[in-house]
Amino acid sequence: MWKGRFSQETSAAVSAFTQSLDLDWRLASCDIEGSRAHVAMLSKVGLLGVDEAQRIDRALAEIDEEVVSGRLKPREELEDVHMNIEARLIEKLGPLGAKLHMGRSRNDQVATTMRLFLRREYGDLALGLKKLLEVLLGRAEADREVIIPGYTHLQQAQPISLGHYWMAHFEAFRRDVARLSAAVEAVDESPLGAGALAGSTLPLDRACTAELLRFSRPTRNSLDTVAQRDYLLDYHHFASVFALHCSRLAEDLVLYSSQEFGWLLLPDAYCTGSSMMPQKKNPDVLELIRGKTGQVLGHLLDLAVTLKGLPMTYNRDLQEDKRGLWASLTAVAAVLSLLPDFLSHVSVDADRALKSFEGGFLLATDVAEHLVERGVPFREAHEKTGRAVRWCLDRGRALDSLSLREWRDLIPEAGEELPRRLNAVDAVRLRRTFGGTGFDRVAEAVAEGRHFVEDSWPL
Ligand code: ARG
Repeated sequence: MWKGRFSQETSAAVSAFTQSLDLDWRLASCDIEGSRAHVAMLSKVGLLGVDEAQRIDRALAEIDEEVVSGRLKPREELEDVHMNIEARLIEKLGPLGAKLHMGRSRNDQVATTMRLFLRREYGDLALGLKKLLEVLLGRAEADREVIIPGYTHLQQAQPISLGHYWMAHFEAFRRDVARLSAAVEAVDESPLGAGALAGSTLPLDRACTAELLRFSRPTRNSLDTVAQRDYLLDYHHFASVFALHCSRLAEDLVLYSSQEFGWLLLPDAYCTGSSMMPQKKNPDVLELIRGKTGQVLGHLLDLAVTLKGLPMTYNRDLQEDKRGLWASLTAVAAVLSLLPDFLSHVSVDADRALKSFEGGFLLATDVAEHLVERGVPFREAHEKTGRAVRWCLDRGRALDSLSLREWRDLIPEAGEELPRRLNAVDAVRLRRTFGGTGFDRVAEAVAEGRHFVEDSWPL
């Protein structure tokens, strides 16, 4: 394509080194979509005759079919997807095909193609996220009255509704939806017409190509357009935080389904066995979901380091943006293809969940708050309750086994309802603060979550 200026053939080693076909051939259809809009615009502004534009457009549509059917094979010496498509057009149309690239550079072309590609991918990601949120809502509704121990520092802390627990993950993934929306917005500008870096002397109509490609507007600065990859950083940011959220959820499920916790039961169909130990049922799916997080985070760092120190504007380093993007998209799609179904098949042993904190001290805060309601300053209530816990520990007693007499001996301010008040159901039910674990609050949260997914879904 650039033979005019060169007096030597490109060496085969350089072709092999600089080519990007192993990465970008999958962009062919999006590249052709961009070219067809470019051609329509060229005809509108009079740079191509109507008949010329029609012939090029038809040929591009044929090339698209040749790519999809596998009849057109890319040639390495043509470096990348863009030049392969253009070369095929010239092969088909001769000098007319050679008009396609007027007013355009691969620099604005690749940015356009990538945005078109990502926009398609985002449609699938949005569907996957929606399904995940719906499954969590269903679980939260079904498990609203199941009581499990809540943890801080992985130490039993206070009883909570399992529905409230699922809704905690719902909120995390809801924020991922907002991050994906930001990424969707970031691809919504058309780079076409920025040229190599400075625009064009030809009377291109950038608003026209933007509209034809269903972008909201053309990008504002041609230098920035070919230099920046913020829209990819936005994807990787979404993917990284999403992967972190999935990893935390997977880790919880691994723990809760282990023999030591034991109140979450994983579906056989989603577990694997051991080649040696006949009794084993392993949560490999969860471990792999957790395990994919490292690479997804790595791809964010990979791109950030590639961008660091690049001068304005386009540099060939930017071609390396694709490998990590594909890998990350594949990992996120794999997680989304499994996690919702996995979650909907998990079952709960509610008795075992309750038993797991029998004899523990998860209701100690309830004692302290009971005293506060009877006028005891919180710090004093905390200390008195702490002493009661110590008293129980020394005697091997459970807090909820103490009689009113025993309570009054330990804490004279104890009300007569205290022994009755100390049970897991009330501990959950009475936590009625907004955003708290009270059963009614969880019902409200689920209703609000449903409204979000069904009526104000932003994607
Ligand atoms: N294949 C390149 C990329 O993916 C686009 C080509 C731009 N090349 C150039 N020498 N200006 O970034």
